Amino acid sequence: MPLILALETSCDETAVAIVRGTDTVLASEISSQIPLHRPYGGVVPELASRNHLIMVRPLIETACEKAGVRLGEINAFAATAGPGLASSLLIGNTVAKALALAHGRPFLAINHMEGHLLSPFIGQPGGVQPSLALIVSGGHTMLIHCLGVGDYALLGRTRDDAAGEAFDKVGKMLGLPYPGGPQIDRIAPSGNPAAYAFPRSMMHSGDFTFSFSGLKTAVLYELEKLPRPLDPLLPDLCASFQAAVIDVLLAKTLAAARHTREKIITISGGVSCNTGLRAAFTEACSRHGLRLLLSRPDLSTDNAAMIAYTAALKFERGFSSPLTQDIDPGLALV
Ligand code: KG4
Ligand code: ZN
Repeated sequence: MPLILALETSCDETAVAIVRGTDTVLASEISSQIPLHRPYGGVVPELASRNHLIMVRPLIETACEKAGVRLGEINAFAATAGPGLASSLLIGNTVAKALALAHGRPFLAINHMEGHLLSPFIGQPGGVQPSLALIVSGGHTMLIHCLGVGDYALLGRTRDDAAGEAFDKVGKMLGLPYPGGPQIDRIAPSGNPAAYAFPRSMMHSGDFTFSFSGLKTAVLYELEKLPRPLDPLLPDLCASFQAAVIDVLLAKTLAAARHTREKIITISGGVSCNTGLRAAFTEACSRHGLRLLLSRPDLSTDNAAMIAYTAALKFERGFSSPLTQDIDPGLALV
């Protein structure tokens, strides 16, 4: 079984993973830069790339130690080639290419969104199955019909903000620390999801397109009417906002499952960590006789195990990339 080492530096996490074929994640190291960017309320690209450069080498060493392998034993080196921040992508790509060149091994350029898409199958005995995929991350919200590795059809995406972006923007409006998603998730269970009637945009549009910017604006208008301090109102606000996001994601995903006749639903990307979302999908899928595959929370937010796993699936199929392959900050999945 080939050993694959992958680097993920598309945004603000520096991550290194080593897998043995498609079966075993031997190491998955992540260095989060969240505290570094928190004072700015978002990711500062130059800070991110400088920090990737500092962290990448020690993380490779730790990953090799944990996996019990030497760099010379690695059969292929992979890196996220896009989508993401150009200056961040360049670090992982340059290091992976240099390692590939130094060790005379192939290099594989991997799409970050394909990593997310396939992450729920990591550790699943049957491997990648035909399924309906909901990807909900900081930059993307997509419904994809997954017919097999590399065979994807886009059913719909957001026409404005991504779900994670809506969480983060609303978190900021509520005065919560960056990123807002996990903060809202933490506060929402103590609130009433019906306290504020926030809009479920495009819920009945009859297609698989999402829109979250109207919801964000509705929260903003509601906040203008509310007394300060907001603290006592936060649980109801968080619960009501979160319920509006989950209702739309769930309704469209179930409609897409009916449309594609797929019986397996996967959810991936950072927002799939959300406890309210996981509970709502688990309940609805069992009610509709659908099998739900959720990746582990540490494999849902950005990580290199999903990139290494995707690389292993591609390597098995004889795929590799030239060392001249450029990064692509806007790389599309479908
Ligand atoms: O997949 P990811 O780590 O990075 C991208 O590729 O974008 O997703 C990050 C997004 C952020 O918007 C973050 O707020 C959101 O995922 N997120 C969550 C939770 N954990 C992370 N949103 C809601 N609830 C969570 N528990
Ligand atoms: Zn991501």
